Amino acid sequence: MRSIKNEKNLTNKLILLRLDLNVPLNQGKISDSTRIDKILPTLNFLIHHKTKIIILSHIGRPKGKIVDELSLKPIKEDLQQKLKLKVKLIKENIFKIKNKDFFNDFDEQILILENIRFYAEEEKNDRNFAIHIASLGDIYVNDAFSCSHREHASIHQISRFLPSYSGLQLDLEVNALNKITSEITKPITCIIGGSKISSKINVIKNLIPKLNNIIIVGGMANNFIEYFGNDIGKSVKENNCYNIVKEIILLSKEKNCELICPEDVLVSKNLKGLSQTKELGQILSDEMILDIGPKTINKIKNIIDKSKTILWNGPAGYFENPNFANGSAEIAKKIIDNKNLNRIYSVVGGGDTVAFLNKLKVVDNFNFVSTAGGAFLEYLEGKKLPGITALD
Ligand code: 3PG
Repeated sequence: MRSIKNEKNLTNKLILLRLDLNVPLNQGKISDSTRIDKILPTLNFLIHHKTKIIILSHIGRPKGKIVDELSLKPIKEDLQQKLKLKVKLIKENIFKIKNKDFFNDFDEQILILENIRFYAEEEKNDRNFAIHIASLGDIYVNDAFSCSHREHASIHQISRFLPSYSGLQLDLEVNALNKITSEITKPITCIIGGSKISSKINVIKNLIPKLNNIIIVGGMANNFIEYFGNDIGKSVKENNCYNIVKEIILLSKEKNCELICPEDVLVSKNLKGLSQTKELGQILSDEMILDIGPKTINKIKNIIDKSKTILWNGPAGYFENPNFANGSAEIAKKIIDNKNLNRIYSVVGGGDTVAFLNKLKVVDNFNFVSTAGGAFLEYLEGKKLPGITALD
């Protein structure tokens, strides 16, 4: 992997910079800007070297359609403020733009193309789409580690058509995760939660042989609760997961990895509601599971106390409503207490988890914080990420 930080002759080069600006938005406002803040050193490096920068990024999952709420406009404004430089958002259809259209003003240095996932070709890793984007620049830089598990055009295919480099943040994340995985101390506990069930459920099987404990919370836990014969009302879940859940349970027994699922939960009739503690088996058809209950929290705390390494990806509940933030807060507190006593090495990852820890103002109390969620888990799994191999 060649890093852009080792390149000398960059003056006036047109850099196509893939970033992950997929930050949480609440009514058009950025509720956590960690992913933006982390890539500022890369932008400042490129600005300092007098390059011209075209930023590529997605936000959310618009599935190839223009979705106004998923515009990169709020991010453009945040970047402009933080860099103290004009950043122009290009909303024109990407197929109609050519590189001679840009940087005609002397002081124009940074452009940002509108959400790349507004084009279905992006997620199809479409060759012609990648060729067209590549034609807009001289050099491609991937500084989106958290998207590098996606075989998408602006992550993977594009690197075939331009000299390609890693960015500063990607280097940092890969080096840190390499170090962590090579020096890891047992017992290792992995806590997996969050709402992106489909991205994570397949990863678990490959993680099990490497772990001593695996704790399933968040949306994915609902699939397990249902598998054990409980009604989960209108809770989120992934469809057609019966077999994979069964395989995970069998494999964890075979590999001696303790699998921990919620034993009690907090429910409500809607996302904005108050919480009620319920045993499994008591959940009504119009209720949804939104957090773990006190019994489960205690069980998780005991396991954290017995662990030497904790890998945590995905909140335990719907923390956006404070009534369902307790599970994640208690997990965070327990990890931090152990870390402060030097009894644990703690790694957290994922946009939502980091946003939650920022909200609690405790994000600096972990040994390593990755901006990546799915990519972080797949990297731990030992999988080759398409976005990283493409830079080789
Ligand atoms: C993330 O938030 O993990 C990345 O931005 C990738 O998003 P995705 O899961 O929608 O591909």
